[in-house]
Amino acid sequence: MDDMPGMEPMPSMDMSDHAGHDMGAMAQAPAALPEGEALRDLPLLANEAGRSGLFKARLTAAPATARFVEGQDTPILAYNGMSPGPLIEACEGDRVEITFANRIAGEQSTIHWHGMPVPADQDGNPMDPVAAGADRVYAFELPEGSAGSYWYHPHPHGRAAEQVYRGLAGAFIVKAKADPIPVAYGDTSLMFTDLRLAAAGSMPDTTMTDLMNGRVGDHVLVNGQKNPKLTMASGAKRRLRLYNATNARFLRLAFANAAMTLIGSDGGLLEAPVAAEEILLSPAERVELVVAFDQPGSATLTTLDYDRGWMGPGRPADAGLTLLTVDVSGAPAETMPPLPGRLRPIAPFGQPTISRRLVFTETVAMNATGMEMGFLINGKAFDMGRVDIVARAGETELWEIANQADMDHPFHVHGTQFQVIELVRDGKVAKPAYLAWKDTVNVARGETVRLVIRQEQPGARMYHCHILEHEQLGMMGIVDVRA
Ligand code: C2O
Ligand code: CU
Ligand code: CU
Repeated sequence: MDDMPGMEPMPSMDMSDHAGHDMGAMAQAPAALPEGEALRDLPLLANEAGRSGLFKARLTAAPATARFVEGQDTPILAYNGMSPGPLIEACEGDRVEITFANRIAGEQSTIHWHGMPVPADQDGNPMDPVAAGADRVYAFELPEGSAGSYWYHPHPHGRAAEQVYRGLAGAFIVKAKADPIPVAYGDTSLMFTDLRLAAAGSMPDTTMTDLMNGRVGDHVLVNGQKNPKLTMASGAKRRLRLYNATNARFLRLAFANAAMTLIGSDGGLLEAPVAAEEILLSPAERVELVVAFDQPGSATLTTLDYDRGWMGPGRPADAGLTLLTVDVSGAPAETMPPLPGRLRPIAPFGQPTISRRLVFTETVAMNATGMEMGFLINGKAFDMGRVDIVARAGETELWEIANQADMDHPFHVHGTQFQVIELVRDGKVAKPAYLAWKDTVNVARGETVRLVIRQEQPGARMYHCHILEHEQLGMMGIVDVRA
């Protein structure tokens, strides 16, 4: 393993040096980015198959330049020259064949299909790296019932965090054969990423604070733009898909002057719409909303304060950011069809046959050279050569995730969708208000989340905290699913 860079599981750092660097970065005001440009739709990845039932394309990861600030070129990493990467749209029942070309000099990469039910050897996990300069084909089928809003990102061992914040992430929509949401609502993807720019337009290196808390940027972008503008007629409804593709930013979101209805989670539609005042979208989570723009004027998507636990100085100001501004014109929209009261059935799982407990802890210790930290699951840091859990394909399991650490940790499992059944806080057990398919769930500090999960396909799967720096520092394990 020592041939791979950037993968010390327990970094040891000189405090004085890095604390100084952090404070220097904070004292400097972040560059101003233009706001109020028309919202760009994510460009679609063209299907080269030429026949229905197959989605075939090529994705190349390579260095590129972006222009966030007038007159400054920022070196980034991009898929097919763009960040976020192109939007992939395929249908339930389709076969997908995507050739991945890794053109990042000197670095391994992969494409991981976050949340999608793809075979373990097609899932771009860290055991399956694509060398710099190499190509590989990812091939899988999209089963019936898998319609939802997913995303793709690199997952190479020790390098995922950096490749993602440098620009590699894209959205992947699986469309339903029969979709109950009225077509008149449209379908707009909003992909959130997080950018930190130094004065000269470069992206600063990761600091000690970033490693501890996860790297949070200075600007939250939507489809690569800061606070873009969308124009809607009054009375219009819009279907929005929100993706948190940031490394570590918790987005507690509210819409001023517009009513939000939650219709979908990570793995697709809910059973029925749920009115929502606000939404907490932790790193890697997605939601689908229908937003009603009934009042002419300005409707803004803004962030509220959320304390997810922060170590050391430099807690970012997360309240009061305007992420998107919707200009609602006085001209009334055509009459919108109503949102159906039932969206689709979600079958609850049967009685689990096995239960497992995963405990998150953080360790911070001083040694001769500085501070040493660990982000652990059941007292262990990730080891690619170790199987942590052996499970059987098709068996229903109860997983209890206990967060005994000082920060929230969004828990993610590869290869399937699960259902959260209970949340325990201060000894009180609560049930979620509705059933939902999830692949990522925030486990708040001191909280225990119980979920029911079933892996249908055999192979080794990762589970980890989706603060990518924590994943890199060890908060990850392997479940080996046997046939
Ligand atoms: Cu989105 Cu293992 O990750
Ligand atoms: Cu994943
Ligand atoms: Cu974490």
